[in-house]
Amino acid sequence: MEAYETLKYDVLIIGAGGAGLRAAISVCERGLRCGVVCKSLLGKAHTVMAEGGAAAALGNMGEKDSWEVHFRDTMVGGASLNNPRIVEIFAHEAIDRVLELEQYGAVFDRTPEGLISQRPFGGHTYRRLNHVGDRTGLELIRTLQDKAVSLHPTFHMEVTITSLLRDGQRVIGAYGYDRISGKPIVFQARAVVLATGGWGRMYRYTSNSWESTGDGAAMALEAGAELIDMEMVQFHPTGMLWPPSMRGILVTEAVRGEGGVLRNASGDRFMYTPEYTPERYRGKFAESTEEAERWLDDKSANRRPPELLPRDEVSRAIYKEVKAGRATEHGGVHLDVSHRGAAYVKRKLPAMYDQFLHLGGVDITREPMEVYPTVHYTMGGIRVDPETCASTMPGLFAAGECAAGLHGANRLGGNSLTDILVFGKRAGDGAAAFAEATDHGVVDPDQIAREEATLNAPLGRPAAETPATIGAELQEAMQTDAMIERTEVCLSRCLDRIHELQQRCDQIGVEGGRTYNPAWHAARDLRFQLRLSEVIVRSAILRKESRGAHWRTDYPNMDPDWGRRNVVARMVNSVVDVDTTPLPEMPEHLRLVMNEGAK
Ligand code: FUM
Repeated sequence: MEAYETLKYDVLIIGAGGAGLRAAISVCERGLRCGVVCKSLLGKAHTVMAEGGAAAALGNMGEKDSWEVHFRDTMVGGASLNNPRIVEIFAHEAIDRVLELEQYGAVFDRTPEGLISQRPFGGHTYRRLNHVGDRTGLELIRTLQDKAVSLHPTFHMEVTITSLLRDGQRVIGAYGYDRISGKPIVFQARAVVLATGGWGRMYRYTSNSWESTGDGAAMALEAGAELIDMEMVQFHPTGMLWPPSMRGILVTEAVRGEGGVLRNASGDRFMYTPEYTPERYRGKFAESTEEAERWLDDKSANRRPPELLPRDEVSRAIYKEVKAGRATEHGGVHLDVSHRGAAYVKRKLPAMYDQFLHLGGVDITREPMEVYPTVHYTMGGIRVDPETCASTMPGLFAAGECAAGLHGANRLGGNSLTDILVFGKRAGDGAAAFAEATDHGVVDPDQIAREEATLNAPLGRPAAETPATIGAELQEAMQTDAMIERTEVCLSRCLDRIHELQQRCDQIGVEGGRTYNPAWHAARDLRFQLRLSEVIVRSAILRKESRGAHWRTDYPNMDPDWGRRNVVARMVNSVVDVDTTPLPEMPEHLRLVMNEGAK
């Protein structure tokens, strides 16, 4: 076994996107020793891909926004699969966290009165997205990074964590390696926070960066924690489509928030087709383009354009248009914001302007963009306690995209940036309180030896299949059969493929050694991706209804019985078990808030 270095912290945070950094701030403010591990470099995280803004009911735009309306919108957008208490905390605390971010130094766009400017986004009743042009995630991460660095946690950059260490039924640290030298590292901690983001990379077309391989959720599952709602994968309606090398890159929802319109190849504003507006949204969206135009500039007009329906609805509509043969040249639809004028577009959407000009040769101030849904976000993840973000495994906490419960069956755009602020803080506080009351536990050398054996196995088989081949086949299988439209037949076919790839994965080989060897890194990532793909597909087979992002054409309706259940995955005797668990009850005071909105 390789000699390993041991590092000791009170709290170890795995992941340095927005949730990890906000958790680190809380831990350091309590005077505890905090280690933060990032898979890549500090400041590079998928957080930057939430471009259009952070949702919080500041009510700066002359509308009657409140935490209650934000609560309702989030529940309705999530098709009521959300944990109501998590949503309540979120809608309340989002406001303070955004104002705190401003105090940390974030430079938001301003209203003429000098308040933080807010823009409309899909599924939000009011203009609620606090933004910095279309680079809000970048500003958020820069600000949190500055603040966190000033409090001196220890950052470990370019370190991959591959398993959580346990002392009996408690997590006491993590094991990983330095990506450059390949040297193993043991982190001992009284509490561990997972803030590792999502797992879009198992799909062929995604807005996610290379790090998003689901390490955190897979390690949590393997360590004994529960995952819920894993069938819920978000397809953002607008990803780049052309040129092929750029396919999947995010085209921010802010384009539609700033008045961008969707058209099919015949030039029709297809979102106005009544079929695309489900019953629960009827009456809230404009039914004609004239009505929608009025809404854009008149804050008293309250019916938004249907381009701003929640993401699951818009993605399905685009998918159906393309399937019906009304696709644009490269197989998508047009998104056009050119009517807003060049100066406006360049001011409010500078990143989109640059992205299309430099990567696609398209000037969006004059021409439409070609777009198609792209895998963007994972609503499911680690089951957590609403107050402390504790997982079901003592000593292990989770926040941000790798945790579940807030977004239900579909996340509203803009809710992720405030999610990571609200629950990053709560996870940091929860882990710190746990750490203050416990010891470091005892590391079991057998756990380390087992993980070392798994890590090193491919190095002895240089002539075998590579992780790249199997990874590409997995992406193809998920993209084809676990995408927007799902049926028992295609999901079962996908599951068979995954099982076959899991077997082949046990035989993969990698040339070279542990030092700076990307193929060797990919070999471990692939095991996580296969594990979570299996959980996604088995959860999707189990949920026999259509709800939010999970569209089963063999069960096309929402089923009230399924609306009372989360799908839960756990390891039983080293095998994944997928079952259902009752959804937490909605307390009476929140039921009243929901009913108020139905009036
Ligand atoms: O479209 C976007 O700007 C993405 C935002 C989000 O995912 O919250």
